[in-house]
Amino acid sequence: MQNLIEQLHETTTYIQSQTNNFAPQFGIVLGTGLGGLVQDIDIKYTLSYANIPHFPVSTVESHSGKLIFGTLGGKPVVAMQGRFHYYEGYTMQQITFPIRVMKKLGIERLIVSNAAGGTSEKTRCGTVMIITDHINLHPANPLIGKNYDELGPRFPDMSRPYDPEMIAIALKIAQQNNIQHTTGVYATVTGPNLETHAEYTYMNRIGADAVGMSTVPEVLVGVHSGLKIFAASVITDEGYPPERIKETTLEDVIRIAQATEPHLTQIIRELIATL
Ligand code: HPA
Repeated sequence: MQNLIEQLHETTTYIQSQTNNFAPQFGIVLGTGLGGLVQDIDIKYTLSYANIPHFPVSTVESHSGKLIFGTLGGKPVVAMQGRFHYYEGYTMQQITFPIRVMKKLGIERLIVSNAAGGTSEKTRCGTVMIITDHINLHPANPLIGKNYDELGPRFPDMSRPYDPEMIAIALKIAQQNNIQHTTGVYATVTGPNLETHAEYTYMNRIGADAVGMSTVPEVLVGVHSGLKIFAASVITDEGYPPERIKETTLEDVIRIAQATEPHLTQIIRELIATL
């Protein structure tokens, strides 16, 4: 089997051959029900994950599995339409491989979105939560195993995973446009089940404002790679206080995510244009 460095070389060589060496500055990971940002991208090239060497293929229907190259807010971007989750059975290395690829293609900043359940008073349905910190409750970590020093340090610092400058700009955009928003701490779990009453309360007690099933693996590899990172959740259901918990289906999550998406899209588009 090839090692990670060889795989990265093969994958990026293929992508560059298909995209006329397109050099993105920003990498964007689009979460559940948030793929509509793609409509704002002036698309130059689209590659299906299925055709990209070493790329995992997305199994969730709400994710379409394409790597999209183009300009957004006047800047060159690469967007992942469809991401990989631990609950689908992928390894952490598979989930985060595309982040390594985007870094090798030249991105300096990573923008990650997700749908999440609210676990504090300030995260009501339809809120855009700008992530300021996270709690990793996944049982695995993409950085476990051999460390390739050319990719990043063995023990990456986690004192500031989310870029303060991008957070400040996003907050200003949200305020100026009257977007329902807050800042907060994101906790990640494996899923695929949603949380019990007791688990939502636990999330609140440990300091999480939202809980979801993604993002942290990508952020860990992003930090390891030296990327500046911005991440935001769309709150699609409420887990706190317990009397607000309702039965929730994937359809509910997608419906609320799509209704809130234009707000998050505006923040991301203007953030990229500003930088
Ligand atoms: N819990 C975990 N993941 C989620 C939720 C939730 O309530 N909502 C959307 N993704």
